[in-house]
Amino acid sequence: MDTKYWNAAEGAPEQTDRAVAEAAALLREGGIVAFPTETVYGLGADATDGRAVAGIFAAKGRPQDNPLIVHIADREQADALAAGIGPVERALMERFWPGPLTLVLPARPGAVPKEVTAGLDTVGVRMPAHPLALRLIRAAGRPLAAPSANRSGRPSPTTAAHVLADLGGRIGGVLDGGPAGIGVESTVVRVDEAGRRIHVLRPGGVTADQLREAAPHMDIADVSESAKEAGVPRAPGMKYTHYAPQGELVIVRCADPGADPAEARERIARRIRRELEALRAQGVKTGVLAFQGEGRPEEAYPADLVLDLGPADRPEAAARELYAALRRFDEFGSEAIFAEALPESGIGRAVMNRLRKASGGRILDA
Ligand code: TXA
Ligand code: MG
Repeated sequence: MDTKYWNAAEGAPEQTDRAVAEAAALLREGGIVAFPTETVYGLGADATDGRAVAGIFAAKGRPQDNPLIVHIADREQADALAAGIGPVERALMERFWPGPLTLVLPARPGAVPKEVTAGLDTVGVRMPAHPLALRLIRAAGRPLAAPSANRSGRPSPTTAAHVLADLGGRIGGVLDGGPAGIGVESTVVRVDEAGRRIHVLRPGGVTADQLREAAPHMDIADVSESAKEAGVPRAPGMKYTHYAPQGELVIVRCADPGADPAEARERIARRIRRELEALRAQGVKTGVLAFQGEGRPEEAYPADLVLDLGPADRPEAAARELYAALRRFDEFGSEAIFAEALPESGIGRAVMNRLRKASGGRILDA
C-alpha cells in the first residue's frame, strides 16, 4: 500500500487545508490515516465503520481484545456515543476537554461496532487538544477511533517519522503536524457507578493532582498497576508489554524511600555504573536513560549511549522525550539499557508507568 504523506506542520494555509481535506476523504472511504494529537500520534479510522476499524488492528498487529479510544470534536458526539453521562463526567469534560483525558463511559447500544469496544459495554471517548486533530474529525464528519500509531508493543510515536518507521506501506496516510507536545498518552479514567470514586485506568497527560482539584469531593484511585481485583475496571491494554525497546531495559531505583533526592541519585548512579562495568567487560552494547540533567550524565556513565531527558524535578521534559529516546536506543542497537527511576509526582507518574511496562517488570534496587 502506498502511504500518503501530508506536511501540515509548516507551509501555506492552503496546503494544510488541502491536506486535511484529502485525509478526511480517505477516512470517509474507510481508509486509515495517522494524525497528530497533543499527546502522541493516533491511527484513525471512521469509528462507525467496523471494517475500517478492523484495518487498524491489522496494520498495528494489535490484540483484538484491546478496545480503541473514540476521538470527537464536539460534545454532541459524546452524547451520541454514550448511554448516559453523569454529573462528575460532565464536570471532567468541562475542565479537561479538549485535552489529554479519556473518559470510559457506558456505550450507547449500536453507536459503534464491536471492533471499537472489543465487545465491552463501555466506550472510551476523548476530545484531543490539537487543532489538526479537531479539524480532521470535523472534516471527516464522524468520530475517529484511534489508538497510538505504532506497531503493537513499540513505543508510541511522537513524530510523523516515527509513524512512517512503524507503519509506512501499511496505512493510507500520515498527516504531519510536527512533534506531539505532551509525549505520553492521555489519562484514562472511569467514574464508579456510585459517583464517588474516579478510577485511573492509565496515568497520562492529566495528573492525579489535576483530577483531585477538578473533583475535590471524589476519591481518586490509580488502579493502573494494581493486581486484578473483583469489581475494579481495567484498561485491557495495560496488561500487554508495551513501549519496549529491543534491548533489555532495567529500571534502577533507590531502595530507601526516606533518602534525600541527592543521595538517592548518587546511589542509583553508583549501581548503574557497577552494572555497566560488568556488561562492558562482556562486550555488551549498553545504554543509560538519565534524568539528572546535571553533572553531565554522558561523563558520569561509561555506557555506549547515554540519553539525558532533563532534570528529575521537571518530568514534563522527560515525558516529551521519552518515546523518542526509547526508539534511539533501538537505532543504536543498545542491548542493555538502564533507566534511572524518576519521582512519581505530576506527569512523572505516567513516565514511570511507561518505563515499568517497557522494562517488563525488571527493577533493581540501589
Ligand atoms: O493519548 C491517547 O490516548 C492516544 C491518542 C492517539 O489519543 N491514544 C492511545 O490509544 O493511547 P491506545 O489504543 O494506544 O490506548 C488506549 C487505552 C488502552 O489501554 C485501552 O485498553 C484503554 O485505553 N481503553 C480504551 N477503551 C476502553 C474501555 N472501554 N474500557 C477500558 N479501557 C479502555
Ligand atoms: Mg498505544
